[in-house]
Amino acid sequence: MQKTMFYSLLLCTTLFASDGYEVYKKNCNSCHVEIMKEAEVLKNLKNLKAPPMVEISNRIKANIVIKDKDDDIHRHLFILFVKDYIVNPKLDNSMCSAGALERFGVMPSLKEISEEDKQAVAEWLYDRYENVKF
Ligand code: HEC
Repeated sequence: MQKTMFYSLLLCTTLFASDGYEVYKKNCNSCHVEIMKEAEVLKNLKNLKAPPMVEISNRIKANIVIKDKDDDIHRHLFILFVKDYIVNPKLDNSMCSAGALERFGVMPSLKEISEEDKQAVAEWLYDRYENVKF
């Protein structure tokens, strides 16, 4: 009985890879809004708990500069950074502006997120804002 449950669980996790947008809604949306224009952010600064995801995605993309213009490598490095930041957010790792860090403080670590969910949400963060500027 236990064995059957184990195998069906295993099957479920391999059949249904995590959906990055669902992971975002469950774990990140309480602090990071999905999309907002810069002017709106400045107006709503008091009500926001963190920078909007559209800004984060664009800033990290702009900060990761690679020599050979290979989009796959760029995306890969972005994902590595985001997955690490979810677990190890600290001042030294943050690419946020000094002003944003002062306003919002450093993000708390979300240690309980699974490897698959971290991967999915990091991929989502890259792909969601392809050609969507802040
Ligand atoms: C409790 C609030 C909170 C939650 C929940 C939260 N964050 Fe954050 N996050 C912040 C704050 C505040 C900052 C800005 C300060 C900083 O860089 O640490 C931030 C910054 C970030 C950064 C930018 C780091 C940089 O250097 O620019 C990334 C990436 C990020 N969050 C990803 C996520 C993801 C992905 C989730 C969900 C899995 C998430 N966050 C959930 C509060 C939160």
